[in-house]
Order: sequence, then structure tokens, then C-alpha cells
Amino acid sequence: ISSAPGNPAGAEFVVVANRLPVDLERSSDGTQRWTASPGGLVSALEPFLRSRKGAWVGWPGVPDVEVNEFEDDGLVLHPVTLSSDEVRDYYEGFSNASLWPLYHDVVERPVFDRSWWDSYVKVNRRFAEASAKVAGHGAIVWIQDYQLQLVPTMLRELRPDLRIGFFLHIPFPPVELFMQLPWRAEIVRGLIGADLVGFHRPGGAQNFLWLARQLIGLEPSRGAVGVRSRPGMVQVGDRTVRVGAFPISIDAAGLDTLARTKGVADRAAQVRRDLGNPKTVLLGVDRLDYTKGIDLRLQALHELLHEGRVKPEDVTFVQLATPSRERVEHYQRMRADIEQMVGRINGEFARVGHPVVHYLHQSVDRTELAAFFSAADVMVVTPLRDGMNLVCKEYVACRHDLGGALVLSEFAGAAAELTSAFLVNPHDLDGVKNALLAAITLDPAEGRRRMRALRRQVLTHDVDRWARSFLEALGSEPVE
Ligand code: ADP
Ligand code: F6P
Repeated sequence: ISSAPGNPAGAEFVVVANRLPVDLERSSDGTQRWTASPGGLVSALEPFLRSRKGAWVGWPGVPDVEVNEFEDDGLVLHPVTLSSDEVRDYYEGFSNASLWPLYHDVVERPVFDRSWWDSYVKVNRRFAEASAKVAGHGAIVWIQDYQLQLVPTMLRELRPDLRIGFFLHIPFPPVELFMQLPWRAEIVRGLIGADLVGFHRPGGAQNFLWLARQLIGLEPSRGAVGVRSRPGMVQVGDRTVRVGAFPISIDAAGLDTLARTKGVADRAAQVRRDLGNPKTVLLGVDRLDYTKGIDLRLQALHELLHEGRVKPEDVTFVQLATPSRERVEHYQRMRADIEQMVGRINGEFARVGHPVVHYLHQSVDRTELAAFFSAADVMVVTPLRDGMNLVCKEYVACRHDLGGALVLSEFAGAAAELTSAFLVNPHDLDGVKNALLAAITLDPAEGRRRMRALRRQVLTHDVDRWARSFLEALGSEPVE
């Protein structure tokens, strides 16, 4: 790889993320197929990127496979291979047992292991080298998320001609927590290689600016960072790095259109019939992750049933939970706890043929998901900490009928935008119970008023606006 001109036939716009938008699935009979990758990053970026015909550098989701680059519906995908050891150390280890809990308020205790860090450095270098090969001269390269925080500086060293952006899809932690990380200065130095470092919320940007001063002695600007405005600035040699807040969103118009189709409406009615036409359908949709607060929403429901404040014949709670990071111990413990709680609630309150909780440890497709959103009277989103949370925005986008109610944790980034939801502190179980009850018994006119306000916000602040605001800030020259 040369240190300047790059690949003359290379892509002008490159996304770099841990995962490709599709995962390779291998069956025991040796056949393989590509399926949609899990998580909010892919849900948000894929529709936008397909319209830009860019390139995407990422891991195909299984260890030890070499896959050549290929085109998928206008997008050129460049697979990066990870060995089984690297999946264990870089992905399950450093990314998901060190950084993930550290950045999510240490909801679980982060594990710091030096060999995991070594693997993180090695894999980040591989992503930087792959990106350097793919990008054309002067291209825009947009690096995504906590798995790849060293790539901006590594890539800049290989290709100073590139315009490099970085966006963090999860919360950036309070500085007191970040300071626990043994490799805290290395991470800040890795990110500062970007021309623009983006977070969901101004608080994340401000924490990062403080760390740039404390840990690597830079002199960042001191003014308050705005939302999509007034980014912070740091001078790094002859470069000005901008640090801003860009709250991510969804393809709201696409989902709104899908939810209006007869197929979705029919399927939503079918779902309600299959559930036995209960008075109230409550819904949770999450990756099965301990940050999402699935256990505490079950606990709130359990107590409400016990106290007789909700009747088991009136309510049905559906929890869709995408399998996630199943070999990480924190996840194994949480899954066992949740499944035990589901069993306990049904054991105490179900009747034959009528479970109170329907728990599906499965991923469903977009149309089916839109049908569940359309069928649900109350959407329950109770993370202990979430960078943004797209599920709540998806629910709102599907409710063109102005029906339904949203119970939303204050600790999701989305709470700053969705102020007409029933906002709850997920640590306050009585508060969660009261909010659930208020949503279940909501007056329809008040419900429509709230939903209209929520939809106005989501439909005017979609993923396209998010991406354009980030890329405009990345493309324009810094204002001194
Ligand atoms: P995260 O990125 O932490 O997974 P988000 O709420 O931001 O959380 O994004 C999750 C994405 O995954 C959303 O687009 C949501 O619709 C999708 N999703 C979550 N659970 C399921 C499921 N069981 N089936 C299908 N899609 C799901
Ligand atoms: O947005 C958070 C995120 O961790 C993404 O980076 C990731 O792609 C998604 O959730 C799903 O997690 P994983 O890739 O570990 O299955």
C-alpha cells in the first residue's frame, strides 16, 4: 500500500464497520446463504448507503472464511477475515466484554484482558489496511462504532489523502468511567485521526474533548457542542479535528409506507387474533442484551399482575429477542435469568392456550416486524443505557393510525427527541409500573395527541438527515 495516491479505480465513498450488512450463514449440510446482519447500525446505514452506491468493508459474521469482494444490489462488499481466536479476543472479548459494558454505564463489570487488547489492535490494523486498498484517491471513508476506534489514525498514516469520519453508535461514557480503561490514551489517539468524530449526544462529544485535553495534552475548544451544530474543534498538528453530535435515526418514510400496506395490516390483525384478541398487547423488541432492561420490564409486569392492577386475561406481552453474542458470559447469564422470569410469569398467570408472555428468541423480517408494531397497544423500551435505540422510532413510524403508546427509558438517546412518550427511569420499578399502567389505560384522544407529536419528530428527522448532516460537516472546511 502506498502512502498517498490510493487506488485510482477505488471507491469514492467507503463505509467501514465491524460487520458487513449481510452475514454468511453456514448450515451443517455445507450449504451457505447470506442473511441480514443484526443491530441498529446496519438497519440505519444500509438503506442510505445503497442509494449512494458505495463500498462497505466489514466482517462476514463467521470465523475463518475467505470471501472475495462481491456486489450486492449496487453496493460493493469487501469482506475482512477474522480467525476463531480473533472472534474470541477482538469481538467477544475486547469489543463486547470490555468496551460494551464500560461504555454502557458498567451495567455489567467490564473485563480487561491484555491479550484481548493485542487482538483489538491487530484486527483494527487489518481493517485500516483493507480500507486503504478499497478507497480511491481523496475518497471519503466513514468508520463506524466502538469495535474500530483505532482505525482512524491507522488509516490516516497509510492514506493521508483521505477524508476520514468516525461515528460512535453507542454511548460515549462519563469520563470517570472511561478513565478505568487501561488503554484509554490509545483509544483517544486512535479516534483523533479522523477529521470528524461524531456521537449521538452533545454530552458524548464534550466528554471526548475533555479526554483529548487530559490524556493527550491537546487544546480543544471550550464552547458547548450543539446538536448537528457548533461542533467542538481540536488542532492536531496542521489538522483541525471536529467533534460533534449527530443523533441517528431510521428510514422513517420507508417504514411508514410499509406499515400502510394491506399485507402488514392483515398480518397485524392476524397477530392479534392469534394472541386471543386480548384487550392490550404489550410489545418489546430488542437484541437479547443486558443493557436493554428486558428483565425489569418483565419484573414490572409480574408485580402488576400480582397486585391485581392488570388482569392476566386482559394483557399479553410479546417479547421478540434477537439472539446476540451468545458465547459472552454476561449474555449467557442474562438469557437464563430472562427465560426463568418468563417461565415464572406464565407458570403463575397463564391459562391453557393463553400464555401471558410470548417470548420469541428469534429475528423476524421487516414486514413481520412492522405488523407487530402495528398490532401493539403499548411499546415497551426500557434500556438501562442505550446510545440511541431505533426500535422506539420504528414503532412510531409504523403508527400512521395514531394508535399505540410508547413507554421509553430516559437513558436511551432517543428520549431527548421523543419527549411525548411516557418517559421512565428504568431503575425506578414503581415508576415503570405506573407508566405501563398509564399507557395501558390511556385516553385515545390523548394517545393520538402524543403519537402525532412523536411522528412529527421521527418523520422529519430520519436517517437521511442524520447521514447528510454528518457528511456535510465532514466535507466542509473547518471554520476557524
Ligand atoms: P442495537 O443497535 O443495540 O441492536 P437498536 O434499537 O438501535 O439497538 O437497533 C436494533 C435494530 O434491530 C432495529 O432496527 C430493530 O428493528 C432490529 N431488531 C431488534 N430485535 C429484532 C427482532 N427480534 N427481529 C428483527 N429485528 C429486530
Ligand atoms: O449499534 C450497536 C451494535 O453493536 C453495532 O455495532 C452492531 O453491529 C450491532 O449493535 C449488533 O451487534 P453485533 O454486531 O455484536 O451482533
